Amino acid sequence: MQETVNEDQEARRQVLSAVARERGAGLRPDPEFERRLDEHFPTLRSLFHSLYGARTDWLDQLTELVLQCARSWQERSPELKALDAERETTPNWFQSNRMLGGVCYVDRYANSLEGVRERIPYFKELGLTYLHLMPLFLAPEPHSDGGYAVSSYREVNPRLGTMNQLRSLAAELKDNGISLVVDFIFNHTSDEHDWARKAAAGDPEYSDYYWIFPDRTLPDAFEANVREIFPENHPGSFIQMEDGRWVWATFHTYQWDLNYANPEVFRAMAAEMLFLANQGIDILRMDAVAFIWKQLGTPCENLPQAHTLLRAFNAVCRLAAPSLLFKSEAIVHPDEVALYISPAECQLSYNPLQMALIWESLATRDASLLAQALERRHNIPEGTAWVNYVRSHDDIGWTFADEDAEELGINGFDHRRFLNSFYVNRFPGSFAHGVPFQDNPKTGDCRISGTTASLCGMEVDPAEAVERILLAHSVPFSTGGVPLLYLGDEVGQVNDYGYASEPGHEEDSRWVHRPHFPAEQYARRMDPATPEGAVYAGLKRMIEVRANTPELAGTTLVDFATNNRSVLALANFSDSAQTLPAATFGGFSAAAVDLLSEAALHLDDGVTLLPRQYLWLRVTPLQPPTK
Ligand code: GLC
Ligand code: GLC
Repeated sequence: MQETVNEDQEARRQVLSAVARERGAGLRPDPEFERRLDEHFPTLRSLFHSLYGARTDWLDQLTELVLQCARSWQERSPELKALDAERETTPNWFQSNRMLGGVCYVDRYANSLEGVRERIPYFKELGLTYLHLMPLFLAPEPHSDGGYAVSSYREVNPRLGTMNQLRSLAAELKDNGISLVVDFIFNHTSDEHDWARKAAAGDPEYSDYYWIFPDRTLPDAFEANVREIFPENHPGSFIQMEDGRWVWATFHTYQWDLNYANPEVFRAMAAEMLFLANQGIDILRMDAVAFIWKQLGTPCENLPQAHTLLRAFNAVCRLAAPSLLFKSEAIVHPDEVALYISPAECQLSYNPLQMALIWESLATRDASLLAQALERRHNIPEGTAWVNYVRSHDDIGWTFADEDAEELGINGFDHRRFLNSFYVNRFPGSFAHGVPFQDNPKTGDCRISGTTASLCGMEVDPAEAVERILLAHSVPFSTGGVPLLYLGDEVGQVNDYGYASEPGHEEDSRWVHRPHFPAEQYARRMDPATPEGAVYAGLKRMIEVRANTPELAGTTLVDFATNNRSVLALANFSDSAQTLPAATFGGFSAAAVDLLSEAALHLDDGVTLLPRQYLWLRVTPLQPPTK
């Protein structure tokens, strides 16, 4: 203990004197930064030490990192500093029931950043407060995994615009009450990034930025325990470089994994992160967090050091970009997903379990697994929030826990096979028009592509599909956190099979659910007689009611039986009417109102939900609320 205190003081002394020295060289005294250094340095030091303490240069590396933070803070604009201060007094701003997210590809949805800017009036019509623009940085052509192979974090893809435009878009969105979210693709760079080019040319400094080996010995040893993510693209996790060496590539061959065992890599990526923060980005979507630390003899997913790294990046933000938040993208076992969620790590997280179980419930017409997940896996720490969604730009993977399913008498392996065949329309009577993604004959694993509308049966029975789309969204819209819409889904956009002839997309079925802006469908959104209009009206209603119902905010849900708040969300996933008897509502006065339709209900009569109906009941608990 004593030793840690001394080490801490020694580190502080070295860091502070380096900061002082730099003052002569352009760094200005800054009481604000120094206050934050006092507060957060011990955390940063201990995280950094736990990652790199075995190296003789760790303290110099840490010193350099803090200097980077000081310089970046000095460059941060007064507007962003004002926002930092404002958010310090309202740290839970992102938990409001008014939060609503939307996600789109810049090119496919609006051609360019300028096009996105022109859509701001529509975003306001919809009620967005959070806009996730899919990766928009310089990337190889035509293969870039939809921009998830980044060639420079400081350059916008010239097809989409410029960094200046991104900066002014961020400011304009902010003026309109919309936070900007972009990806921080920090597990890997593209093979065209400067660092990768230098590594490929044999530069030893940059070869150390990646996991590069002279022969197959270590790659074989690592691969013994590592899962294949895109087996259709390349088997294993390594690819051979032109000079015969082997480089780690978890995803595609042109996405090279960064080596965070090297503190230079941490510092280099911290610099890129702070650069983005200073452009006015509010939230970084931390891509592929599960994979960022590797260790021989392990599956190289979800290792404890992955958390330490994220916490260290988070501590860097607290020093130099205090209002920046992280959203975790961990599409893994629900126990592991939860471990990334903390105010000190990722304040936001995708909720892949809820997403997958919405689809599971629609297929089975039985919400048991979803109900179980809401009961036992939904509540997360204070100061954090789920990003709840029906679908994303990625495939649907069936990431529920086999142990959970087992308790309900469901065999996970068989159930996934059923779900896959249901969603690719091989199961008799299926309404879904999905497409397989990464069918892996070796493991029997497969995931599903398709837009919300196509997976809900828009091509089969539009009226029922509309009901399913709305039912599906009623879950993320009533379970707190930030509901996230895939833009286009709000007008019931269907699959786009044209991807098969788009250069770079042919072999990736996820493009079937990344269609272009559906101008005609948007034009029909105000006509409730059309499927577009029906979906739009239903979603708009949920958005409005949610925005006016503070009970729908928050990170925790209260069990139905012990509900001491005053809104009950009900959803019927079955194809027949379901009645909840009066006794179910014993804890509430008889008079209730469905907030969505404004219909009055009498709970003494029980409540009957039609097939695929959902109700948000304003009820009055008989006992006064305890909280
Ligand atoms: C992510 C993205 C996915 C991409 C992968 C590699 O998880 O969501 O689209 O293929 O990371 O960057
Ligand atoms: C895997 C990864 C996830 C990635 C996805 C892309 O599920 O865990 O990070 O986004 O593949 O399909």
